Amino acid sequence: MNFLIINGPNLNLLGTREKSIYGEVSFETYFQQLKEKYDKVNLEYYQSNIEGELINEIHRVGFSYDGIIINAGAYTHTSLALADAIAAVNMPVIEVHISNVHKREELRHKTMIGKCCLGTISGFGLDSYRLGLEGLLNHCDKR
Ligand code: DQA
Repeated sequence: MNFLIINGPNLNLLGTREKSIYGEVSFETYFQQLKEKYDKVNLEYYQSNIEGELINEIHRVGFSYDGIIINAGAYTHTSLALADAIAAVNMPVIEVHISNVHKREELRHKTMIGKCCLGTISGFGLDSYRLGLEGLLNHCDKR
């Protein structure tokens, strides 16, 4: 099974950026641990700070892989184009957030992409990605 984790803007700075919110671990370190834990599936990772590149990546895998886990960063709250890209592909997409966006500023409570996703996981630190993967695996089992 092929799954892709997509990280949006500023998430390349995990481990460095606002550590009190996002923690001290880089995504590369976390991703290696996740890959070791789920060594029976093919798990890939893509990050970009550029909206159009995120859309291109959704299009690239969206008709052939088994699922996408996306943390769209701040584009979550603003991007109709990303929402349209997710709606356009025929695969389950899970929205994840490291922080609990509902506990933060009001403008972070709104998600443009949520309505196009299978589900949303928010507030479990980096473990949100693992929970997203578990959600995808359960979903795939049921199909
Ligand atoms: C985030 C929450 C967003 O509001 C923020 O813009 C991010 C990270 C999270 O993972 O908690 O960049 O998606």
